[in-house]
Amino acid sequence: MAQLIHGSDYNPEQWLDRPDIIDGDIRLMKKAGMNSMSIGIFSWSVLEPEEGKYDFSFLDMIMEKFYQNDIKAILATPSGARPRWLAEKYPEVLRTDSLGRKQVFGGRHNHCHSSPIFREKITAINTLLAKRYKDHPSLFMWHISNELSGGCFCPRCRKAFIDYLKKQYNNDLDKLNHDWWTTFWSHTYTNWEQIEPPSPLGDTNLHGLNLAWNRFITHLCADYIKTEVAPLKEITPNIPTTINMMDMFTGLDYEVLKDEVDIISWDNYPHWHSENDYDAAIKADFAHDWFRSLKHKPFFMMESTPSLVNWQGYNRPKRPGMHILSSLAAVAHGSDSVQYFQWRKSRGSSEKFHGAVIDHCGRDDTRVFKEVSELGKILQSISDVAGTQIKSEVAIIYDTQNRWALDDAQALCNKDKQYFAQVLDHYRALRKLGVNIDVIGSCQDFSSYKLICAPMLYMISEQNANRLKDFVKNGGVLVSGYFSAVVNENDLCYLGGCPGGGLGEVFGVWAEEIDTLLPGNTVSVADEQNTYTAADFCEVIHPTTAKTLLKYTQEFYQGTPAACVNSYHNGKAYYIAYRDSGKFYDVLYDNITTELGICREKSVLPYGLLIQKRGGLTFVGNYSENYIDFIIPDGSYDIVSGSQGRLSLQPYGVLAITKKE
Ligand code: GLA
Ligand code: ZN
Repeated sequence: MAQLIHGSDYNPEQWLDRPDIIDGDIRLMKKAGMNSMSIGIFSWSVLEPEEGKYDFSFLDMIMEKFYQNDIKAILATPSGARPRWLAEKYPEVLRTDSLGRKQVFGGRHNHCHSSPIFREKITAINTLLAKRYKDHPSLFMWHISNELSGGCFCPRCRKAFIDYLKKQYNNDLDKLNHDWWTTFWSHTYTNWEQIEPPSPLGDTNLHGLNLAWNRFITHLCADYIKTEVAPLKEITPNIPTTINMMDMFTGLDYEVLKDEVDIISWDNYPHWHSENDYDAAIKADFAHDWFRSLKHKPFFMMESTPSLVNWQGYNRPKRPGMHILSSLAAVAHGSDSVQYFQWRKSRGSSEKFHGAVIDHCGRDDTRVFKEVSELGKILQSISDVAGTQIKSEVAIIYDTQNRWALDDAQALCNKDKQYFAQVLDHYRALRKLGVNIDVIGSCQDFSSYKLICAPMLYMISEQNANRLKDFVKNGGVLVSGYFSAVVNENDLCYLGGCPGGGLGEVFGVWAEEIDTLLPGNTVSVADEQNTYTAADFCEVIHPTTAKTLLKYTQEFYQGTPAACVNSYHNGKAYYIAYRDSGKFYDVLYDNITTELGICREKSVLPYGLLIQKRGGLTFVGNYSENYIDFIIPDGSYDIVSGSQGRLSLQPYGVLAITKKE
């Protein structure tokens, strides 16, 4: 039977001297409609208090209680944080920073991923965990480590980097020197051992090196995950694995890591009520779509807060309704779970004021507990949606490696090249039409889409550029624009004009130069009827075969094209040469989606309203502080409230509309 997971991070090891609290927790979990708990995430020092001396009694106890109460366990491997003895006896497990400083014990998520001792110790405890609970009926999923991140600059990691490069380059140092353009500033390598990771004490300007180092960090992390997963897969082959990824995290390329786990999961903490809620919702939806599109399968929202967090600038409790609204948005975008950090507030240390289902008061009559319980019931009522896929005819390319290269490039506005903001602008325009969207990396398959938007795709390999070319050739519509296809996958500029990699022919334009506008400055662009506004970046382009849609009406490039469209074989390619303030995208996507017959709402949605379709349900959310009129189509009703027909959707209200039987 399909089931949506409703769960939480749970740390009973902090309460072992209070069995009354633990028993109360289990009772309240049932009352709140929770069916899964993530446990053991930071339990290493309890599970192995001394090297080789294991004590699984607390896990035995809690797993048994879960079993008795029909609660699933997402069991973590304990490498989120290490016990003191491990660092004390084996300092090699501690990271070294880019200035060469060895860390001392403390914190979490900060082990040297190449350390053989660390890998040996985690393998040992993972093996024991898997053996001990392999037949336990509550064991539901493996949660590998916690929020993996970061790199280490110790001599062993440096050696691993050099070995990785030797392999990548087939021992051809000349090729590496060419790809990294090391003749620049006389940085040519004459032997492999000269290669050092990027460091403020040495090289930070060798972009090929920076890119390679970022790729290596992901590679090492993938290899580390393999080590953790190996015993689990051997002993419990049918239990799925996951790592909890982080919101738009740029430190690792999740397109690579996705292959190391069975299920994608991520931790979702929007800045509700401190930034504009509609903008925050657009960002959260984008992230959901990104994580779902990694495997094109339902994912898990492994963490979210039931109330507030404690690490944002302004930590504001979710306003009444927001918890249910934002949780159902996750489900609407493909999550098979709504999970929290955390079930119960810890009594001490840094997360004691982080939101939880159960506060220090221990009560179940709080606003938060009541909303969580209400959500528990709603999740049960829409459980059929679990496991269903999301169909998208539109994809936006958002590419982490492109972001690395763009951020690194010394160009445009160095403070912020607005890559993510620009991608979001395209996303928002399409979401205003109620379009379902996949968010994919540039290495993914393009063939199933009708429309692909690839804003600021600065770095693209010739191979992927060719695939985009084929997409358009075969009838697809491609939208891109300024500063796209500028460098290849090694961050070497394409010669012969941009967009490069063969895409110039697809767009029918070539780009001559780009203007970076100062903050607050704008440039007008217009067609015969309308005027739009450019901010941040204006590229000067020349159509070769493209038709001009808009022209600049100011600046030294006045009268030259600002947006073009080119028919290419069976498809079309749009090139928008400037950063639009949003209005042109609205018009553009209204036209393109109509022309392509893409599934969307009839008219542009009112501000604040977002719609997403999944598994026979239409989710409608109001992220504004105003009531919004909405008509539920004849023959359908809202599962949440039972409403039908015309209604006024309250602020932070949500509908899950389905057809009447
Ligand atoms: C992350 C971590 C959790 C917790 C939360 C707090 O997501 O995985 O352990 O620290 O942040 O928001
Ligand atoms: Zn290291």
